[in-house]
Amino acid sequence: MNESNNLKNAVILAAGQGKRMRAATSKVLCEVAGKPMLNWVIDAARKAEAGEICVIASETDVMEAAAKAGCMTRQQTERLGTGHAVRMAEDFLEARCGGDTLILCGDNPFMDSETIGKAYGLHTRQGNAVTVITAEIADPARYGRIIRSGDALAGIVEDADCSEEQKKIREINSGAFWFRTEDLLAALKKIRNDNAQGEYYLTDAVAILLEENRKAGAYKADTEDVVLGANDPAGLLLLNEIAAKRAVDRHLANGVQFRLRDGVVIGPDVIIEPGAVILPGCTLTGKTVIRTGAVIGPNSMVTDSEIGEGTVFESSKATDAFVGKDVRIGPYVQLRPDARIGDKVKIGDFVEIKNSSIGEGTSVAHLTYIGDADVGKYCNFGCGVVFVNYDGEVKNRTRVGDYCFVGCNTNLIAPVTLGDGAYTAAGATVTKDVPAGALAISREALVIKDGWAAKKLKKYIEKKQKLSQ
Ligand code: UD1
Ligand code: CA
Repeated sequence: MNESNNLKNAVILAAGQGKRMRAATSKVLCEVAGKPMLNWVIDAARKAEAGEICVIASETDVMEAAAKAGCMTRQQTERLGTGHAVRMAEDFLEARCGGDTLILCGDNPFMDSETIGKAYGLHTRQGNAVTVITAEIADPARYGRIIRSGDALAGIVEDADCSEEQKKIREINSGAFWFRTEDLLAALKKIRNDNAQGEYYLTDAVAILLEENRKAGAYKADTEDVVLGANDPAGLLLLNEIAAKRAVDRHLANGVQFRLRDGVVIGPDVIIEPGAVILPGCTLTGKTVIRTGAVIGPNSMVTDSEIGEGTVFESSKATDAFVGKDVRIGPYVQLRPDARIGDKVKIGDFVEIKNSSIGEGTSVAHLTYIGDADVGKYCNFGCGVVFVNYDGEVKNRTRVGDYCFVGCNTNLIAPVTLGDGAYTAAGATVTKDVPAGALAISREALVIKDGWAAKKLKKYIEKKQKLSQ
């Protein structure tokens, strides 16, 4: 055992170019199951309790994403190889000497915490200066090959430098390592770029430690998925297909029902309780929670939202929303950030709700916009109600008490309050507070002109008859 058991930190390499992806963002920010590849890797390091994380990036979008995820960042302005990339974190490592450093690649989303943890176990058990995480893969072309002597690591040979014999080796360098931080720092100072590609190879740091007779080990992952990355859109699709299959398998085993796998995308951080049903065409991402007995879909998108027990969420979309128990949502509902829907609410077609709470048992059945409002329990909204929350400059809140009846086509001009049990007549434009139990009505007296339409209709029919002659 070495003394560095509990001091850990991680460096994630994410400055690669990814030109072939031709994406609008940097490659590591391309999404697998609705989550950027880099965030998969960051979360794996966190779950493995690898300590503070420093992300090496070249582009600002990656620097920003890493900082947003709570990581330190260092910029690698020139991409001079994996060893050069780790050197960018020299000061970060020097400040954290006396422990172990995990190196991960930002474009390997399926490198998992279990593999990282087991590799760390081997690393400390064997008292290694470096432990490489390897995988046995069907097609090892392009990867660095692992040379073993007995159980120990004897070297890593890059594909370009392999002999014909070495090319046949199928155990490869995943690109992930555990290093004793001090040894890594010392070796990094010694690596040179006098090779075919003119790059500073991180694998040379391993070679240097081996030359100095330091102990080096290799931990072989259970699956080759840990090395999977994507260089182009086809590769990214493959990762997404693998992630989709894995997610459905994981939830099936946990008692979640699916009718088909078609178009079902479930992010790695989504929680679905046993007994929930996910219909085709659903994308569930972020920190979404689906409670038992809920039926989601078909064709629904739920991001960072909770859908309560027994709730039906049909052909609708929710972002940063909370939906209670036994609610009926949809079809064609949009719940925007901070929509909080109480138990037994009914929300029907073409209703949008934003930054509002809706009390238990309230019904918003059709064609309504509710924004910036607190709505009580057991209210009924007619068709076409609009909460007029924005006056072009500021957004104002509306309060609707319990047991209110809001007539069809009512406009509630915020800020305004309807007291408990208040009514608004169809077509009311409410600009003043309505006391509890009162009726608000705003309409002109209706005028009826006998025979007026009949005369008009006679002319119209004559015109049509002429045209068809
Ligand atoms: C590297 C390894 C190889 C291993 C393979 C696994 C070396 C010399 N070779 O290959 O043994 O099998 O990874 O994928 O290390 N990166 C930077 N800055 C750079 C260069 C790379 O941040 O200047 C990052 C990339 O974004 C990527 C990772 O490092 O996340 C690996 O880079 P990549 O070019 O894919 O690795 P190779 O050199 O091909
Ligand atoms: Ca690679």
